[in-house]
Amino acid sequence: MKTVFSGIQPSGTLTLGNYLGAMKHFVDMQEDYNCYFCIVDQHAITVPQDRLQLKKNIKSLAALYLAVGIDHDKSTLFIQSEVPAHAQLGWIMQCVSYIGELERMTQFKDKSEGKEAVSSALLTYPPLMAADILLYKTDIVPVGEDQKQHLELTRDLAERFNKKHNDIFTIPEVKIPKVGARIMSLNDPHKKMSKSNPNPKSYISMLDDEATITKKIKSAVTDTEGTIHFDRETKPAVSNLLTIYSLCTGIDINELEATYSGKGYGEFKSDLAVAVVQTLKPIQDRYYELVNSDELDKILDHGAEKANKVATKMMKKAEKAMGLGR
Ligand code: TYM
Repeated sequence: MKTVFSGIQPSGTLTLGNYLGAMKHFVDMQEDYNCYFCIVDQHAITVPQDRLQLKKNIKSLAALYLAVGIDHDKSTLFIQSEVPAHAQLGWIMQCVSYIGELERMTQFKDKSEGKEAVSSALLTYPPLMAADILLYKTDIVPVGEDQKQHLELTRDLAERFNKKHNDIFTIPEVKIPKVGARIMSLNDPHKKMSKSNPNPKSYISMLDDEATITKKIKSAVTDTEGTIHFDRETKPAVSNLLTIYSLCTGIDINELEATYSGKGYGEFKSDLAVAVVQTLKPIQDRYYELVNSDELDKILDHGAEKANKVATKMMKKAEKAMGLGR
């Protein structure tokens, strides 16, 4: 059975973008793959975090993973900092990385631009991400489009390590969904929907209630043309809404275009709000049952135990290949 690994940062409430671009696909993959899903809290601290808020976000993300349908009997769900091999192999992968290639990462450029105090970990974030993946002999990494560059670097680092030291790492494939790999902001269709955007109207949080979702969708930007059809170039905002609609309902974009032909944005947006609420409401109900339960802690303990066993073995192999220790 092939192995899948993916991670999400506990750095705020997840958005509909995280769900449609990543989490939704994780659920489908559980049937056919040996899956590891990680709460990457060590990645989150590359930018300042409030201690108590971070703790809350970690639990909240764990509950969301389960609420969307990650099944702990089929998949391993765990917290990155509870498996020390991640940071240990992360260090080794830093030693294999070049500063130049890390400085070229778009996410580093975006997150550091114009800032005075940028942590060095923001630069060395991709080698830690490579470690996350390589520890589990991962074959496939399902992510949204924004992570593609990090995945290409992971492959480069793994190949470099295998060539220079010992051929121990599996070279992972990236899996980016055909539709929904980049859900855009509701108030600017040229920016991706992001939980770090200071304007909450730009994103739908996975925990937004019905009234908030409806209000946000009603105020989403469109264009002055008044027709509902898909064209990323000329109609980026409407195309983004159509993508969300299609992913929430399973209805093809072509079919949606036909349904709304001759109809206005008002009706389209009202129906879209219903579709989003119907997608998120059952997830939210399960989330609130789980978030403060003992069951959640048990699942995370079990996940850490399983992940530690596998990860420690690979980390030791990497240390041996490099000549570390006695
Ligand atoms: P993060 O926490 O920013 O996002 C988690 C996942 O959600 C996807 N995503 C989106 N997809 C579509 N549209 C959007 N607007 C959107 N926003 C986010 C992301 O592509 C991602 O799949 N570096 C990673 C976390 C990470 C990781 C890993 C991922 C750490 N180690 C190992 C895979 C494998 C990150 O910051 O994702």
